[in-house]
Amino acid sequence: MKMETTSNADFTDETLTQAVLKAFAMTPDPRLRQIMTSLVEHLHTFVREVEPTSHEWESAIDFLTRTGQTCDETRQEFILLSDVLGVSMLMETIKDEAAPEATESTVLGPFHMTESPQRELGDSIDLVGTGMPCVVTGRVLSMGGSPLAGAGVDVWQADERGFYDVQVPDAQPAGNGRGLFTTDDDGRFWFRTVVPSHYPIPTDGPVGSLLDHTGRHPYRPAHIHFLVSADGHEPLTTHIFVADSPYIDSDAVFAVKRSLIVEFTEENDADVAAWYGVGVPFRHARFDLTLPVAMTTADHPNQTTTTPKSLTS
Ligand code: BEZ
Ligand code: FE
Repeated sequence: MKMETTSNADFTDETLTQAVLKAFAMTPDPRLRQIMTSLVEHLHTFVREVEPTSHEWESAIDFLTRTGQTCDETRQEFILLSDVLGVSMLMETIKDEAAPEATESTVLGPFHMTESPQRELGDSIDLVGTGMPCVVTGRVLSMGGSPLAGAGVDVWQADERGFYDVQVPDAQPAGNGRGLFTTDDDGRFWFRTVVPSHYPIPTDGPVGSLLDHTGRHPYRPAHIHFLVSADGHEPLTTHIFVADSPYIDSDAVFAVKRSLIVEFTEENDADVAAWYGVGVPFRHARFDLTLPVAMTTADHPNQTTTTPKSLTS
């Protein structure tokens, strides 16, 4: 004799989604409830649409397992996955809509893993001295244009061959291509470096294999990273991109914004070169960074006062 159907069994394709949504409906934290509801709805829609085979489902689980296993103290393959899927930049772009006057933000990337050495304004972050000399100058401003004195300007970049110091410890001293500067009374910063090269994101893990299987290249256009902080302001994570760099129109992590593309002009004025302590010719990049004013918890519509325990333990 057939058992009587209970309300918690024998789900059909249509009723299963509703049952899972109902199971999460009593989640005490309203934000976690919203997140889980939306996640279930989108995941179930995805499975209905794609109808993965068992083999495909196992491959997906295996891919995510390997992605986790590739992570360690210094490598975060899940963030890299988020980067190549465009999710990291979608997060940044949505966040930027709250402060349209501020400099646009970008992904942090995996190479901000060591502390940048404190340097004086005008110092060189190039400890090797083989590339085309380059001077980077600019100001840190608040929204409205007032200069921010004493702001922290943390910079890091690849060298002229496309490597960060941590990738080639035998070829570059630690701290090469990195510096932590403090703006002067007019909010100004300036430092010497070399023009960085474009380079590939790490391809030796599951994300690299995903790019390979989908016919995508792994390259990022040449750029210099900035992490800027000042009292009373939100920190800003961004890059400037070298205007004529290869891959400027096809960044593997979708981080290029028109407003962040900067001409690294060639300069031949010997007096200006001498002032900065470089020879001629040198390249000069000029870029101001505008920080959003600090938000209160009330300004973040989705911010809960506590992180749900279920997401951290
Ligand atoms: C980077 O620019 O350092 C970077 C950003 C995202 C993924 C990989 C590298
Ligand atoms: Fe980078």
